Amino acid sequence: MGDRTPLVVVGSGVAGLCTALAAAPRPVLLLGRGHQGEGSATSLAQGGIAAAIGPGDSIESHVTDTLVAGAFRNDGAAVRALVGAAPDAIAWLQGLGAAFDRDAAGVRLGREGGHRASRIVHAGGDATGAHVLSVLSAAAASAPHIQWRGGIDVDALQLRGQRVCGVRLGAAGGGETVATDAVVLATGGIGALFARTTNPVGAEGSGLALAMAAGARARDLEFVQFHPTALDLPAHSLPLLTEALRGRGARLVDARGMPLMAGLHPLADLAPRDIVARRVWQAGRDGGAWLDATARGIEWGVEFPTVLAACQLHGIDPSREPVPVTAAAHFHMGGLATDALGRTSLPGLHAVGEVACTGVHGANRLASNSLLEGVVFGRRLGARLASLPSPIAGGGPVALAARGPALEAGRLQQLRTLMWQAAGPQRNGPGLAAAIAAMRPLAAAGWQGRLALAVLEAAARRRVGIGAHWRDDEPVGAFADPGGGSRALAYGATY
Ligand code: SIN
Repeated sequence: MGDRTPLVVVGSGVAGLCTALAAAPRPVLLLGRGHQGEGSATSLAQGGIAAAIGPGDSIESHVTDTLVAGAFRNDGAAVRALVGAAPDAIAWLQGLGAAFDRDAAGVRLGREGGHRASRIVHAGGDATGAHVLSVLSAAAASAPHIQWRGGIDVDALQLRGQRVCGVRLGAAGGGETVATDAVVLATGGIGALFARTTNPVGAEGSGLALAMAAGARARDLEFVQFHPTALDLPAHSLPLLTEALRGRGARLVDARGMPLMAGLHPLADLAPRDIVARRVWQAGRDGGAWLDATARGIEWGVEFPTVLAACQLHGIDPSREPVPVTAAAHFHMGGLATDALGRTSLPGLHAVGEVACTGVHGANRLASNSLLEGVVFGRRLGARLASLPSPIAGGGPVALAARGPALEAGRLQQLRTLMWQAAGPQRNGPGLAAAIAAMRPLAAAGWQGRLALAVLEAAARRRVGIGAHWRDDEPVGAFADPGGGSRALAYGATY
């Protein structure tokens, strides 16, 4: 490789690890805020990886389900690339040592919201993310081309003109700078900017804010997905109750035990996530929502050990009593505008995984397409950057674009409350306008405030209800549905 600069990958969840592994033999500097992927959303992912590998299933059907969930706002080519590569992604992970759950027919295939077929591969029941992370981490730790440094928060990008040419490692890295001709951001989403989230507390959009500070273009920032079933605790980062529970027959009920989803959608409890999350959000205002999995013959210790442990920690036995649930910020479909080759609008800067917005998820991600995205697009990007010739080094001065200071704890809490109230599962113009005004001083005080303000402004600008971006004061977006009519009408989801 001669004296070629290392590829710098920022983020060591599934997308960053897959990019780093696929870049061999190019030297990679892999930087993570945690050590060995800890603190990444990947480690918490309970849902599995969607792949059309079951009898009677097809790539075409997985494509359609992805488009329907995404309210047909998806980039069709990206969807086909993602879904078409899913069977190979599963085989590649197995080749690295991933042990997916099996039954008599082979790899066991589960069902989650929005999928019309059983096509979700799991590992350790609901511990898929942790298992996949450990397999990828072991491969990265023993890969000679990867140098992995944990505990590093990249807080600035170096630019020569418009081209990104290096990163600054934050305080823990002694402010050192590293020169490179290619930076990949794989830094995850923004769930922790909301008062209730299934994400780890560090998921504040650090990479997105960094790239925006350097002038990279973002898109669809208002498309934030809310998961319908987080354990309802008085806390910020909440344990997830995986959608696979509803795939196994669990039902959402109200305080009187009446089914919440009956009559709202043909797929009822397994309707696309935005629809179920709004129903749970509304039920939360009318006395609460519960997930009832008591009558289902579930083998909790085998199928859902993570959920069981979280419930037991809080004195709940899910096999005997319905579990209180709340909607919670879960996944960012928006992010850094990224093309099919993983390029952002700044030469030299790439993005992959949740921080990127290729348009693949449209306005609402289909369940279990996110680990898949990290694997498929990460591998593709790594392989491309391994073979890409170095750009001709330009001259001129190097400037530093820094993310800037973070908000102090009290202001961060204020920000999360504003985001939850105004930009949660149900939004409207007056609420967004008030939150924008209240956010301005926070935007002047810290980078999380600037990012949150950009999300609010994007939500205020999109004056239509679509996918996870639901405006109760604006019409439902009209869009083509292969089934005919608008999805809202087709699915009766007009509440
Ligand atoms: C879940 O297990 O419900 C979450 C899966 C996902 O976000 O795709």
